[in-house]
Amino acid sequence: MHANIGRCGQGLTKIPRFGSNCLRSGFVYWQSNSHCFRRWSSFQTPRSPDTTRTIFSGIQPTGVPHLGNYLGALREWVRLQNDTTEGTTLYFSIVDLHALTVPQESAQLRRWRKEAFATLLAVGLDPSRSTIFYQSSVQAHAELFWILCTVASMGYLSRMTQWKSKLQLPDDTTLDNSATRSRLRLGLFAYPVLQAADILVHRATHVPVGEDQKQHLEFSRNIANSFNHIYGSVFPSPEALISPAKRVMSLKEPTLKMSKSHVDERSRILLTDSPDEIHKKIKAALTDSDTMITYDPIRRPGVSNLLELLGHFEGKSCQDLALEFQSTSLRALKENLASYISNHLRPIRDKYISLMDDKTGYLDDVSEQGARAARANAELTMRQVREVMGL
Ligand code: TRP
Repeated sequence: MHANIGRCGQGLTKIPRFGSNCLRSGFVYWQSNSHCFRRWSSFQTPRSPDTTRTIFSGIQPTGVPHLGNYLGALREWVRLQNDTTEGTTLYFSIVDLHALTVPQESAQLRRWRKEAFATLLAVGLDPSRSTIFYQSSVQAHAELFWILCTVASMGYLSRMTQWKSKLQLPDDTTLDNSATRSRLRLGLFAYPVLQAADILVHRATHVPVGEDQKQHLEFSRNIANSFNHIYGSVFPSPEALISPAKRVMSLKEPTLKMSKSHVDERSRILLTDSPDEIHKKIKAALTDSDTMITYDPIRRPGVSNLLELLGHFEGKSCQDLALEFQSTSLRALKENLASYISNHLRPIRDKYISLMDDKTGYLDDVSEQGARAARANAELTMRQVREVMGL
């Protein structure tokens, strides 16, 4: 835990340096103009000497995002962008190299990348305020990935859960089993190292993510500390900004998270669903046989999920909404929720459709402009990294 021993070469440091440490642990609250985020802080955190902040986040191109992706991540990105103060830089990436950690069909991946890009613009990311780019267009991500592999611990990686869930193995799986080892591809195992490279290559200080990414952020902080310990303080320690919409549950199996892989399409609402589709899916959402409206996520996950969803749109607590709807019917609650969702998603869907139909090359232009800006920023970091490593 001795970060910042200051062995960096002189003369290459256009980048702000991170000189002072403070040791904190526990939840810390971070306030933007209209919103309060919770962040988990348990490592030594080299603090920026000034107030400049760099926000980075990524989304995998795996088809049109659903409401869970939107409330858990994308809506927060837009809020951060819109609330941003001077001195904050924002980077949002379609992490197509991460998508390759599981088998992909190339034509489909190409389509998904474009769909993801159009979605980011449709939800309200603005290329004049945020740098939006494809990860694979900025080669420094892959270069820093390799460099971080030289400090990443196999033991730490083997304890992480994502590769196990992708291979449908229990969380306590170890690498001791040879059948596991032969199924596990190096890229999937090293996924968190590439994610750390994404964050660190842009010297990000804040990373807005869903609750499920907390483990990857801890790993990124750990690898930044390890690198800084060996080579001097190059990387700030990135902090997770955990979205308040922690778990959006499936409409068909409300004890599971809303997911793009559930067999029943009615279990999720896509950002491009029409008002009619939204009404049908909400109407068919699974609830229990009790017709009363109460908020009880453990015993009544179905109706509680509907209240939570409404809460995310109305900005009210689930308890208050339960009281409000107490004397009405489940049908009224569902109708109200479906209207909220479809009104909110309508402009997003319209913009998405017009971006996908565009024939002027607008998306290509915006992605090239984003790639150029991201390359320039990443190159500043890589010059410093190469210098301190003797390359
Ligand atoms: N692992 C993230 C997810 O599945 C995506 C991601 C890749 C990411 N690189 C990142 C998120 C860097 C935040 C920062 O959602």
